[in-house]
Amino acid sequence: MEKKLILIGPLRQVLTLDGIPEKGAVKDEQLQIVEHAGMVLQNGVIQEIGDFDSLYQRWHEQAELVCTEGSQVALPGFIDCHTHIAYAGNRANDFALRNAGSSYLEIAEAGGGIWNTVSHTRASKEDQLVRLTVERARFLLSQGVTTIEVKSGYGLQVKEELKILSAIKTANRMTDADLIPTCLAAHMLPRDFDGGAKEYLDQMETVLFPLLKTEQLSNRMDAFIEKTAFQADVIKPYLQRAKEMGFDLTVHADQFTTSGSQIAVELGARSADHLEASTSTEIDLIAQSTTVAVALPAASLGIGCDFTPARKLLDAGACLAIGSDWNPGSAPMGQLLTSACILATMEKLTNAEVLSALTFRAAKALGLHDRGRLVPGMRADFILYKTDNYQNITYYQGSMLPAAVWKDGKEVVSNNNDGQYI
Ligand code: NIG
Ligand code: FE
Repeated sequence: MEKKLILIGPLRQVLTLDGIPEKGAVKDEQLQIVEHAGMVLQNGVIQEIGDFDSLYQRWHEQAELVCTEGSQVALPGFIDCHTHIAYAGNRANDFALRNAGSSYLEIAEAGGGIWNTVSHTRASKEDQLVRLTVERARFLLSQGVTTIEVKSGYGLQVKEELKILSAIKTANRMTDADLIPTCLAAHMLPRDFDGGAKEYLDQMETVLFPLLKTEQLSNRMDAFIEKTAFQADVIKPYLQRAKEMGFDLTVHADQFTTSGSQIAVELGARSADHLEASTSTEIDLIAQSTTVAVALPAASLGIGCDFTPARKLLDAGACLAIGSDWNPGSAPMGQLLTSACILATMEKLTNAEVLSALTFRAAKALGLHDRGRLVPGMRADFILYKTDNYQNITYYQGSMLPAAVWKDGKEVVSNNNDGQYI
């Protein structure tokens, strides 16, 4: 097989994220920054990173040279480890109702909320869902997001959950980003289900779970643990069964009330997401576990509630990732970096903590070991910004777009944003 070699550079700075521990607080001094750098890529994988001139000396005869213009900074592609982008409809009215005084849970109890999106998503054909998912994935990719987790959860019937997960699978083939599907059949008890929570979950376990395996639609299982969704007594055995069948677990936990994170830790879930209501008890529990804490600041901004206690989680020793939670209800903005930078100002997170949370720590939440740091052997998924200092990336709070995005060693996005940020 032909070995395609690429040498890219010279780059003002490459932030490798190498050497930063998987858990706990991080200082900016811990960021490894390679100055005047080059990156050698081979067949979509990083082969070497180092001083551009010496790489040029060694490789210029075999490698295709991709010359970068002006000052550019490279960092690993972002990983959005929590989204719900496979949906139809719009919930602008929920947003208006919340700002006029109704709460997220009140709107849900009155028949709006998630159920509204379920009705629109069920009414859409699979190809429409594919198109919507691809459009949203491309929007994230233009922000530098090269891996995107995507949940079902707006079908809430075996055939409708299958439709959404199959749409995600097709959408994955139509975008350059990698889409990682997660089954969220336990998002809420569907209003038209003839039976209680236990009967509904039993049906999902016996009928849907095996189909997900045979049709290779997802190996991840999520559940919304909350008073208006599913509570501990019924959800624990459901997640336990999923685990026994080999699914990786993740949980919507402690968004309004606690209990979800404890279940996530007990069952060894890859991540516990939301955690806005977590107290020091839950923070310590998560910090002592291997479960990644996923903050979703766009949901706090959409709902108007507290942010996840990210500072406390890191100081207690937790692994913190940040996701966009892009969904039509609580988090419609779809801006991963912007929401992460707002969390940083509110929770006092260092640049190193924010960038770790958007890259290798988010990869850990998805159980992916081949991405998230720019080191030899990892996928060549990276973002280039036209700037001479990486600090500008968070400083502009997401308004500085990537000059280019590379996925698996190929340039998949390029933007001409010269002179915009002087
Ligand atoms: O992560 N909290 C539950 N699920 C989503 C919201 C879904 C919706 O409102 O449509 C979340 O915030
Ligand atoms: Fe969510």
